[in-house]
Amino acid sequence: TNTPKAVIVIFGATGDLANRKLYPSIYRLYRNGKLSDNFAVIGVARRPLTNEDFQNNVKKSIENFDDPHIDKDEFASHFHYNPFDIQDLGHYQALDKFINALDEKHQTEGNRLFYFSMAPNFFGTLAANLKSEGLTTAKGWTRLVIEKPFGHDYPSAKELNDQIREAFDEDQIYRIDHYLGKEMVQNIEVIRFANALFEPLWNNQHISNIQITSSEVLGVEERGRYYDSAGALKDMVQNHMLQMMALIAMDPPIKLSPEEIRSEKVKVLRALRPMTEDDVHKYFVRGQYDKGLVNGEELPAYRAGNGVDPDSNTDTFVAAKLMIDNFRWAGVPIYMRTGKRMKQKSTEIVVEFKDLPMNLYYGKEHDTRPNLLVIHVQPHEGITLHVNAKKGDYSASSTPIQLSYENSSHDKMNTPEAYEILLHDCMRGDSTNFTHWDEVALSWKFVDVIADAWGKKKADFPNYETGSNGPKAADDLLAEDGFQWWDVT
Ligand code: BG6
Repeated sequence: TNTPKAVIVIFGATGDLANRKLYPSIYRLYRNGKLSDNFAVIGVARRPLTNEDFQNNVKKSIENFDDPHIDKDEFASHFHYNPFDIQDLGHYQALDKFINALDEKHQTEGNRLFYFSMAPNFFGTLAANLKSEGLTTAKGWTRLVIEKPFGHDYPSAKELNDQIREAFDEDQIYRIDHYLGKEMVQNIEVIRFANALFEPLWNNQHISNIQITSSEVLGVEERGRYYDSAGALKDMVQNHMLQMMALIAMDPPIKLSPEEIRSEKVKVLRALRPMTEDDVHKYFVRGQYDKGLVNGEELPAYRAGNGVDPDSNTDTFVAAKLMIDNFRWAGVPIYMRTGKRMKQKSTEIVVEFKDLPMNLYYGKEHDTRPNLLVIHVQPHEGITLHVNAKKGDYSASSTPIQLSYENSSHDKMNTPEAYEILLHDCMRGDSTNFTHWDEVALSWKFVDVIADAWGKKKADFPNYETGSNGPKAADDLLAEDGFQWWDVT
């Protein structure tokens, strides 16, 4: 059969991500027949745990699943724990033997997947030691999945990348951007390139502006220490937001191979108009949440959070106007915004089309609106096309209507999760939905200019209330161009 076989080694096996996302994803792959019996997972972390403890953690992470034909004990028996000291070379040699033994037992053809799901300051040491102790050369394939944050600016990302590249080739490295695993983000390409309807209009002749929003309701919760040194710009814009933008704006690839798609995405990032310090203050809006009332409960301001500097200058909200300087997009503003503690949890892309050259439906009996194509990424998954049609009455008045498609709404349980898709892709050797170093480098270089400009000037924070849509300046950004944010959810 074609189901992938591998020993998966998860560094950071007791962490939040592993428990919340990775074990459930492995379970779902297994349940859906995307993973055969030929797999084993080695959980690696510092803490001394027994195999039994570890397997219990794994079972706990999948307790919400109830599939009568799956024996959870049998599933958990594929998981093994290996307490580990990253500095101790002897531990690597022992791990190597352990991998080989499990390879033998589960017949995984010598394939190894290393998953770095831990604090990034260990990535370099870990990669170097894996190589020096011979773990990166095996009978089958060896791949590395690496979690964000990938550096905190271009120089640190480059340093990290150089360290990893000492041990792994670029085509062995799978850098996770979990937005690329989302069903509707992957759908962008299909909607654009499998329809005759959109692509001919997908340019500055017919599109007036594009809006990409990813808003969250939660604050930074327990992640204050990490977040206070990152902020929304580095946490969301550098990766998820720019990735969505690249997929929306890229030219059609000559085929659907990872190399061709990546090369088109890279071209978009290269065409992003670089910002000067003055531009940053004009085209980028930063925000930080204040306290606010949500469902009768008063939630504290960002600065009052755990691990956060009480005088913090960190952005929890970013809105921006980007320009892509190429033939297709010259003159079309691409707006994006993302923030925490906003009104709703929602990720959406709105493509607004230009008005017709002449409007016949202008009297007060008519309500004609711009055509919008809305891609709903979450929580709803689908697309909506906003068009104008005749009102269903005796008149000839026009009125806005919506054509909507909702993705597998009846069976949410079976829609694959981002991490599940990405793990499966990696095991199949498909790197399409991972970020190549070239993309990471360009995104950081773009973002660094903004971070530097902001770093030089203290912001007037807090400037938006918890539960709102961000600071007013974010609305002004569009209003100055004669546009508005479409709140379409
Ligand atoms: C992560 C960020 O990459 O994405 C988090 O570090 C953010 O701060 C999260 O909350 C949002 O992901 P999603 O899938 O919930 O939109």
